[in-house]
Amino acid sequence: MISLLSVFTATAEDGSKLWLRYQTTHTAKVTGQECKAAEILRAHYDGAQVCLRIDDAMPQDSYRIEGSHDDIIISASTQHGLLYGAFALLRNEDGYSAPYYDLRILNHWDNLDGSIERGYAGESIFWNDRLEIDHNKIEAYAMANASIGINGTVLNNVNASPKMLTAVYINKVKEIADILRPWGIRVYISVNFGSPKALGELDTADPLNRQVRRWWKKKADEIYKAIPDFGGFLVKANSEGQPGPFDYNRTHADGANMLADALKPHGGIVMWRSFVYGAKHKGEDRVMQAVSEFKPHDGEFRDNVILQSKNGPLDFQPREPYAPIFDQMKQTQQMAELQITQEYLGHSQQLVFLAPMWEEFFTYVSPEKLKGIAGVANIGLDTNWCGHHFAQANWYAFGRLAWNPRLTSKEIADEWLTQTFVDKQLIAKQQIPESHKHRAIKENHSQLVQTRKIGFNEAYAALLDMMLRSREACVDYMMPIGLHHIFKFDHHYGPEPDGFKAHYPLEWCPVYYHQADSAGVGFDRTSRGSGATLQYPEPYCTLYDNPATCPEEYLLWFHHLPWDYKMKSGRTLIDELDFRYQRGVNEVIDFIATWQQAKPYIDAQRWQEVNDRLTTQLIDAREWQVVCTKYFGGFAR
Ligand code: GCU
Repeated sequence: MISLLSVFTATAEDGSKLWLRYQTTHTAKVTGQECKAAEILRAHYDGAQVCLRIDDAMPQDSYRIEGSHDDIIISASTQHGLLYGAFALLRNEDGYSAPYYDLRILNHWDNLDGSIERGYAGESIFWNDRLEIDHNKIEAYAMANASIGINGTVLNNVNASPKMLTAVYINKVKEIADILRPWGIRVYISVNFGSPKALGELDTADPLNRQVRRWWKKKADEIYKAIPDFGGFLVKANSEGQPGPFDYNRTHADGANMLADALKPHGGIVMWRSFVYGAKHKGEDRVMQAVSEFKPHDGEFRDNVILQSKNGPLDFQPREPYAPIFDQMKQTQQMAELQITQEYLGHSQQLVFLAPMWEEFFTYVSPEKLKGIAGVANIGLDTNWCGHHFAQANWYAFGRLAWNPRLTSKEIADEWLTQTFVDKQLIAKQQIPESHKHRAIKENHSQLVQTRKIGFNEAYAALLDMMLRSREACVDYMMPIGLHHIFKFDHHYGPEPDGFKAHYPLEWCPVYYHQADSAGVGFDRTSRGSGATLQYPEPYCTLYDNPATCPEEYLLWFHHLPWDYKMKSGRTLIDELDFRYQRGVNEVIDFIATWQQAKPYIDAQRWQEVNDRLTTQLIDAREWQVVCTKYFGGFAR
């Protein structure tokens, strides 16, 4: 506990404390159940007295907070429930709350050499060549996750090294599991389907082979001996070069069920990913391939298999329609995979709050359809954990949505902003009378933005608004009106609409996705085109199939349209594209102005670091605008 406190209380405002910036002036008296929740409240709660009570009748992980500020009772059926209650109390919440999902899991795409696939915040907090485990760091990570209700973590990349299943690494997983356990977090690992063969122990990984099945059973036994509450496996099979059951002419169900059978006696689960293309249905529109590959096997999976699918059918673009696999697999348990790390949304350079994107997803895929949520983490060894201070909000938002998918983006942004950025002392010192206002002048070339002085409340409201608008801004300056995947290869940062390389699969080339020519732009996925609209149930199938009824934000995702197509605004399609790119850039300029105005209320280091990145974001947004409007304009005009 001492070491943990030093992580969260002794450091400056460098972002290392995340949203856990408790300023406690005295020690609360905490009675009842002795557990982590008691430690946390003693260290951080500013009220007089809290009693922690076990109430066996309450649902797992739920809690109830009752009483007045100075005399509080928290009840829960388990110590983990008490812990969630303690953090809720620290957020000034009260009443009853229970998590919507039992599975609230982070996926770390961390490689065993310490690098992170699509990680933009430094090296892995778990893995390094020296095989050293940083206990303090991992405990601080656990506390942050517990504070937002995350209860599981997959420790390694889905492009999994077979080495993960060797004794040395299983032992490391155990060490990590021991640190995470008191915080209610279970560990899971990604496994390489070809492991028995790749490790040289068998000459096949055929899931129907008896020796292979025995190998996995023994492996599961070995893991559970070290980690009795181990969660299970995450698997990327026959996708982007990973081995899988197809290598032996077997099905996804054969593969997943074999692993499920090995884990079943121990209570473990298999999260089998549906992110597939270029295998069985090579040549088909990429966004359709998951349904084509999995639908024939609906109902064949064991009850401890969960199909894990990305929110959209392509690959974590700034905007995608929802993935129809969530509708199509009616007899298979499913999880959504959201990407917290900003692979396609400006890495850790750009301020993009992702909750609005996830909220949008839940308006199409009702939360009841899912067994749980996974989020691809944005966490690394950077001092502030996530690279961009505002990227912490995405980690926070993921946890809160996994707890309650009906929370709004605004509620989440508000919670996070208050905890992370509001500094009462600074505000008291710097309060500026609202009467000192002068008008903002934007886009003055010598000086980018002039701002007026504003009071704290106005600054706070503007920051909140900035967060909520930031995702739409990103869509506008990167890929408006349903354009998608026009990124530079392979880092996915910056525009490359003319991207085409004959030796790459077509599905990696931007020109394949926008299909621009002198006649028009967009991918015809209608019933007359690739037929992707037919994978959607009504009303979406009909809505999306017709450009007149297709929501404009998905227009070029589903339709190839002439450049002079009339948009709802009255503008032609090409003019509308220009308009949206400009609007996106304008938004970033506005964010810079907002940040300037908020300066009196924000600590110096974080203010400067965010400001530097906003400057980069504007340069980037302009690059997107210039490159894309020139490129598309070249066809249209
Ligand atoms: C994307 C990403 C890869 C990742 C893959 C996946 O394609 O670029 O780095 O491995 O998704 O989700 O498996």
